[in-house]
Amino acid sequence: MGRLDGGVAFITGGARGQGRSHALALAREGADIAVVDILGQISTVPFEMAREDDLVETVGLIEEVGRKAVAIQADVRSQEQLDAAVAETLEKLGHIDYLVANAGIWSRAPLHEVTEEMWGDMMDVNAGGVWRTLKAAVPHMMERRDGAIVITSSVNGLEGSLNYVHYVASKHAALGIMRSAALEYAPYGIRVNAVCPGFIDTKMTDWPGAYEMTTGSPEGTREDHLRGGHYWHALAGRGVMPPESVSGTVLYLVSPESKDVTGVAIPVDGGHMILPGVNSEPVFADEIPPSR
Ligand SMILES: NC(=O)c1ccc[n+]([C@@H]2O[C@H](COP(=O)([O-])OP(=O)(O)OC[C@H]3O[C@@H](n4cnc5c(N)ncnc54)[C@H](O)[C@@H]3O)[C@@H](O)[C@H]2O)c1
Repeated sequence: MGRLDGGVAFITGGARGQGRSHALALAREGADIAVVDILGQISTVPFEMAREDDLVETVGLIEEVGRKAVAIQADVRSQEQLDAAVAETLEKLGHIDYLVANAGIWSRAPLHEVTEEMWGDMMDVNAGGVWRTLKAAVPHMMERRDGAIVITSSVNGLEGSLNYVHYVASKHAALGIMRSAALEYAPYGIRVNAVCPGFIDTKMTDWPGAYEMTTGSPEGTREDHLRGGHYWHALAGRGVMPPESVSGTVLYLVSPESKDVTGVAIPVDGGHMILPGVNSEPVFADEIPPSR
């Protein structure tokens, strides 16, 4: 007996990384899964996005644990594609109980170098994509007077950061969508919550720009990066954390154990948010030039 027996989950960005890990965690508890992913590159994203073989692998892993999986190529920037994805899920799996709006992108640049295109893509995927995903599936949940939704924000939805203002803005927006949706759909018995992951080891953070961020050097290697990850988290032994770290909280937020929980954003961050802030480059008043 699983905690989600008979349930169906619709997971965006499910081909790999955290989305795949969540899909498997929910499948192991008895849910069938619609795995939705773009399977294509967005030009402002500086690392490779998921490919078809990633999605095929995820489907195989879900089937290995004895659950049904439906693979759907859809871009969360398109309402039409998401509506079609929901329709296909309903046709093949019957209903949708759990929605995990997890698809996201990341890129880096100082605020004054972020281009219109970078800003537009980031907001369109990480904020607009969450709104559209809910828009596609919520009417079905309203009819059933039931549903649990988990939105993937980030610790960057709770605090500022350096050199990716567009990502930080999009993840704050995701929490605004979560809180508004939780309020709007509470009368229908639909719960809406968010996870705010810390630093997670996925393809999103496994490229030279991410190594530079963790190590403070453009020469930083993956090995340095994994060591540097320890500075981001408070709990002992937590460097850059595996995707599975987040899946237990996603599972909790869709399961009956959280039936009275809605409208919350849970950091899954190894204690990152409780770290005392330290200014690594303090500027003292008497050093500020008059023109500044
Ligand atoms: N890795 C981290 O450190 C970290 C930390 C906090 C939050 N997050 C968030 O977690 C979520 C999952 O990211 P991840 O770490 O697993 O990285 P990832 O790159 O492995 O996974 C993201 C997935 O989303 C898909 N995707 C991107 N744009 C899409 C679109 N327009 N339509 C459909 N699918 C799309 C990608 O193809 C990919 O499969 C993202 O929302 C990310 O912002 C990541």
